[in-house]
Amino acid sequence: MIRDTIFSPSFGNRPTYLVGREKLVDDIIAGLHTAPGSRERAVILLGQRGMGKTVLLWELADRARAAGFIVATPTVASADMLERIIEKLQDDGERALKDKQLKLSGASLGALGFSAGLQFTREVQESKSFQYKLTHLARRSTELGRGLLILIDELQANSEEIRQLVVAYQEMVGEGLNVAMAMAGLPGAVSATLNDKVLTFLNRAKKSDLGPLPLGDVDAFLARAFADLGVEISEDDRIRASRFTAGSPYLLQLVGHHMVIRANETGELTDAEITTALTLAQEEFENDICKTSLRSFRN
Ligand SMILES: Nc1ncnc2c1ncn2[C@@H]1O[C@H](COP(=O)(O)OP(=O)(O)OP(=O)(O)O)[C@@H](O)[C@H]1O
Ligand SMILES: [Mg+2]
Repeated sequence: MIRDTIFSPSFGNRPTYLVGREKLVDDIIAGLHTAPGSRERAVILLGQRGMGKTVLLWELADRARAAGFIVATPTVASADMLERIIEKLQDDGERALKDKQLKLSGASLGALGFSAGLQFTREVQESKSFQYKLTHLARRSTELGRGLLILIDELQANSEEIRQLVVAYQEMVGEGLNVAMAMAGLPGAVSATLNDKVLTFLNRAKKSDLGPLPLGDVDAFLARAFADLGVEISEDDRIRASRFTAGSPYLLQLVGHHMVIRANETGELTDAEITTALTLAQEEFENDICKTSLRSFRN
């Protein structure tokens, strides 16, 4: 049996290679370099279960960091979301700015409300609102020439926390601060039943629908992955497998994995084994997508 070191069918798991999303990621990163307040800096990613929303947010986190942004890595929309965003920005900011001798410049010394680096004084920490803290972090990082990027996963647009975040974002934009936001959710997350502020914001934001991956990219990835793992498969069979994924990233991971573990020592697969691999992948896919959809119903 061949050990599968490439395919990782599991929700939220970073794939070894991100298939078919290069242009989207490049476009979003380019958007971060537009002027503060531009539409390109508020991005909503919509996609069905398993379409790769979570892993895309993590990819954006890495790429934005490399582009100099201080990043709050994907935070799931939930009750303690706002505090966690502050903590993540502080942690990442410390990392990004550690060689900048934060405390030494005159401007920094006088920065109100901060004790050291991006840590707040005790008074601020204990008595101020999320909005106050976030705005202060944004002012501070803008001063230091860095942007802030906030990433939200499993967007529940009708949540109170999202409303507060959106209001804070709009105020920061009004002040010309260097901030950006990307949120991911199921297509139904943006619906007409939302309260005005959030709805207006979401409507104005730049929306991207995460559709299926281009089959050419899927096939090229399978060809390389199978070659790297030593799986011997005809072009016809590989194309059959690519088509079978229908461009679903999660199904792609399942199909790849089930095929690899069925190959014999010399990397060969019989027709019957390929069929079994595809059938099992399909079953697992339906089972998992259905389970996660039910989970979201119960929330
Ligand atoms: N572009 C991609 N290339 C290769 N694999 C991918 C890609 N996007 C996602 N995957 C894989 O697909 C699976 C599902 O991805 P992910 O968890 O990001 O989906 P999701 O849209 O967040 O799903 P959910 O709505 O359930 O949260 C994971 O195994 C992940 O590694
Ligand atoms: Mg997800």
